[in-house]
Amino acid sequence: MRLRSLLFVPGDSPRKFAKGAASGADGLIFDLEDSVAPAQKAEARNIVSGWLDNRDPAASFSHWVRINPFETGLALGDLAAVVRPGLDGIVLPKAGTAEVVQLGHCLDALEARAGLAAGSVKILVVATETPAAVLNLSGYCAPHPRLVALTWGAEDLSAALGSMDNKHEDGSWLPVFGLARSLCLLAACAADVAPLDTLYADFRDSEGLARNCRAARREGFTGRIAIHPDQIAVINAAFSPSAEEIAEAQRVIAAFAAAPDAGTVGIDGRMYDIPHLKRAERVLAGLAQG
Ligand code: COA
Ligand code: MG
Repeated sequence: MRLRSLLFVPGDSPRKFAKGAASGADGLIFDLEDSVAPAQKAEARNIVSGWLDNRDPAASFSHWVRINPFETGLALGDLAAVVRPGLDGIVLPKAGTAEVVQLGHCLDALEARAGLAAGSVKILVVATETPAAVLNLSGYCAPHPRLVALTWGAEDLSAALGSMDNKHEDGSWLPVFGLARSLCLLAACAADVAPLDTLYADFRDSEGLARNCRAARREGFTGRIAIHPDQIAVINAAFSPSAEEIAEAQRVIAAFAAAPDAGTVGIDGRMYDIPHLKRAERVLAGLAQG
């Protein structure tokens, strides 16, 4: 499942579902949590479950639902409504690894009830929304089998910390939020799942988004969350290898294939060793997922 761009769509806005479906996103996240007002929660469940029932078999994007956190008392009702054919995964907010295990047990039962293959519903965790969750990110070194990605968020963590803001005046993250972001990247890589950067809130600023995505990709993030359809093309381009990167990866792989006993090769006057080979393989593996 390709996870470069995942677009949040408020669960009570069917008009936006259609826009999201046409956006080119790798996945849509139908939201039942923070973008839905309390009075609309029940209606959002009905709308999202109806959309899953009518899923277009030709749709090339994956279908995710962000449920409410377990602590709200709403999560079980959300899951009962949306674990059905058409669902690819659950986005779990404000969670640590204990809640991931709890969600896994719920999915075991609800998949059986819905006639879905055991283990078919995947999990993406918003892994930094509470201070305890950040401090326990090392728990992902023993990942849950349903886990396919980790992302992070600064807004709920700011609220939990009582922070007045989460960014410097130049737009860069204040230290504690940069730390949470870096730990999320490390945890995702330790778990061998996709590290997804958080949303870029200024959805009219596509140049800033492109710059920000390129920096995230250089660091190791493989995709990110989107909140507006206009962000999708920018994100998909930024997290796809360029023609030069593909050509270089092919050259590196060919050079190692031509010298099967070598741990290091020279190409055009530059040294390449095993980490370069791994990176080249990763670039081409990402293409194969498309
Ligand atoms: N998914 C699908 N369609 C969306 C969309 C989204 N996330 N955001 C905007 N659109 C649609 C709008 O409905 C509008 O369609 P229309 O022309 O048919 O009315 C079109 O794209 C242009 O939208 P625009 O006018 O630029 O923005 P807006 O003011 O309508 O919406 C937001 C701004 C922030 C409210 C909206 O982008 C949004 O709801 N984002 C997701 C929020 C969310 O889910 N947050 C939770 C995770 S943090
Ligand atoms: Mg939130």
